[in-house]
Amino acid sequence: MMRYLVTGGAGFIGSNFIRYLFDKYGDGVEVVNVDKLTYAGNLDNLKDISDRPNYRFIKGDICNAKLVDSAMAGVNRVVNFAAESHVDRSIGAPDDFIKTDIYGAFVLLEAARRFGVERFVQISTDEVYGSILRGSFRETDILEPSSPYSASKAGADRLAYSYFKTYDLPVIVTRCSNNYGPYQYPEKLIPLFVTHAIENKSLPIYGDGKNVRDWIYVLDHCDAIDFLLTQGQIGQVYNIGGGNERTNLEITDYILRALGKPENLKTFIADRPGHDRRYSVDTEKIRSLGWQPRYSFEKAMRETVDWYVNNEWWWKKLKTGEYREFYKKNYKRDF
Ligand code: NAD
Ligand code: TYD
Repeated sequence: MMRYLVTGGAGFIGSNFIRYLFDKYGDGVEVVNVDKLTYAGNLDNLKDISDRPNYRFIKGDICNAKLVDSAMAGVNRVVNFAAESHVDRSIGAPDDFIKTDIYGAFVLLEAARRFGVERFVQISTDEVYGSILRGSFRETDILEPSSPYSASKAGADRLAYSYFKTYDLPVIVTRCSNNYGPYQYPEKLIPLFVTHAIENKSLPIYGDGKNVRDWIYVLDHCDAIDFLLTQGQIGQVYNIGGGNERTNLEITDYILRALGKPENLKTFIADRPGHDRRYSVDTEKIRSLGWQPRYSFEKAMRETVDWYVNNEWWWKKLKTGEYREFYKKNYKRDF
């Protein structure tokens, strides 16, 4: 029996990963989910799962060593998704990024070392490399993170590696590109623009809209993590990417077309400070082990747009009340 501790499992990727595990392994896995339920954590993401006898939810902070100890007892594998994850928020208020993304990872690594877990996957990000105008970053390239978010992720990424080097903790570090799919908090580009377009609100494009991201469907990311848990080598870093580089304008046009909404919803606004122009990772290392993404961008994007169209119950309440006030106050725009 594989016993997982998934942290941040009530967020976007973590909840998709837990669902992926149950879909694939059924009763062959046990999952403990530790999540603080910040603004981004949402138990609605796991509604269909919460009653399973092989699933347990613990509301708690990964910075709390006592709580982490009690959650880690009996666990074989730890997958650390818990993080503050939005670049724009890290520009306004970096504190929680340093606390959760770095110190929280430290607390988990310490506990994992004491408990002797079999695998510890640190979910890092392609943003730790910084921007690249031509070509793609390899795992051996230097890290030049640009935002407090990516800098704190880089800290945790290297801290995890140090626990392998220093204490022989069986760590794997993954650096994935931008994810899209169901249950993504509607402040990130794709769910923000899809839900805004449904509501006929203007779509705020930073700068000239020509920044490039490599988009991967969230279940491909989950599949890659599952693959690396058995096929990855400990102490190694693996880039994960979808191989779908698009400018933000291309993404915006796709969404408007898919929803049959007018071009004039596009609004260019002041650029994000420190905005990385392009992210691109070389994924040869994981591909050489035999993994590749399965979902085509066109099909998975269509399904993602349809998911938001069909699941207003999920996102409508996230764009009202205190959440909307937060955006008005801090970003002077509608949410
Ligand atoms: P998310 O913001 O949707 O989810 C983060 C989750 O962590 C939330 O449920 C939140 O409640 C929880 N959390 C935050 N602080 C916590 C704490 N102190 N203790 C316990 N739980 C806490 O983020 P996401 O998009 O699902 O990203 C998950 C992970 O994947 C992050 O580590 C992120 O850096 C990484 N990542 C994301 C992307 C992407 O495109 N979204 C790409 C590469 C890597
Ligand atoms: P985001 O989803 O915040 O992911 P990240 O910055 O971590 O890659 O943004 C993706 C791209 O979309 C990025 O280039 C910034 C841009 N963007 C906008 O133009 N407008 C917006 O309102 C948001 C949220 C993002």
